[in-house]
Amino acid sequence: MDAWRRLQGPGRIWAGLVVGALLVGSAFLMYAMEGPPTPWVHLLYVPIILAAVVFKTTGGVVVGLLAGLVAGVWIPGSTQSATDWVVLSSFFVFIGGFLGATQELLERRFRQNEDLIKKVATIHARTLSTFASTVELRDEPTGGHSSRVAHNARVMGLALDLEPDDLRAVYWAGLLHDLGKIGIPERILQKPGRLNDEETKNMRRHSDMGADLLLSVSPELRQIAEGIRAHHERWDGSGYPRGLAGEHISRVGRIVSVVDVFEALTCKRPYRDPQPVQEVLAFLRDKSGWWFDPTLVQLLEDLYWKGQIYTVDALHAPPPVEEPAAVLPVGEAEEAILRNLAGTTDYQLGSSGRP
Ligand SMILES: [Fe+2]
Ligand SMILES: [Fe+2]
Repeated sequence: MDAWRRLQGPGRIWAGLVVGALLVGSAFLMYAMEGPPTPWVHLLYVPIILAAVVFKTTGGVVVGLLAGLVAGVWIPGSTQSATDWVVLSSFFVFIGGFLGATQELLERRFRQNEDLIKKVATIHARTLSTFASTVELRDEPTGGHSSRVAHNARVMGLALDLEPDDLRAVYWAGLLHDLGKIGIPERILQKPGRLNDEETKNMRRHSDMGADLLLSVSPELRQIAEGIRAHHERWDGSGYPRGLAGEHISRVGRIVSVVDVFEALTCKRPYRDPQPVQEVLAFLRDKSGWWFDPTLVQLLEDLYWKGQIYTVDALHAPPPVEEPAAVLPVGEAEEAILRNLAGTTDYQLGSSGRP
């Protein structure tokens, strides 16, 4: 479709020149063959078709007429009768006009489809952003947690050179990983002490609940939903909800898992104080290979020391080196959410390159 648009834009001039050159070329060829009824006359359909595709009905009809002139008037040696010429020219004009009209119809349909796809994408983005805001409001003591997880997950995805679709899934799964918590009672979410068995069981439902909720919006969101479902799985298979191990856990889920724990431990929670980043990194290293994907733990640490990981402690650090948008190629929808969340949760790009 992009090549198509170029042909409809600046490419039109080139297309016009090609059509002209083909007409003149065909004329010379037929002149050399002493005109119709040589089969070479059918060459004239090439510029007619091209003109109809690029310049629509008008172009098709005009070039059809010109082709008729080329096939009859310009070729003195032609042995065709006037009737033959009129029939041939009529065919040229009809083919040019018909193809041009079909082309117009096709392009109108393309545009309608594109508009429809944009509308659906906008509805999805708005639905997801509403979900994200709901999670942030519901889980207030973790202020900004989901947005930092989303950005850190995307930073990891960029470093892993993920495809755009995977990168997008990683971002949204990071933002919505705790979506299912909207179904968990507040007394459990904000309980200061350890959860009892019943509460733990209840809390563990949030992975499936979040994933299923997202799938109920659209099956198109499956990759994000499966990332959400897997964000509490562990590399050795001891996690939940499915007890998957190693690379059976979706890569999106593995990335969100490690950045989620990193972010959660560096923040204050109702049931514990924040831990220094170096201790958290040591904790992740310790759990590498049984809780987390070891390559991802190493990657997170490398990125942290490069100053690319967002942390809550940066609130009290000097002004950020770069704006988040400059670091991350966030899409329009993500940027809107980022602005929205940043306005309410007071978070900044981490200056985590500091020792
Ligand atoms: Fe979670
Ligand atoms: Fe989380």
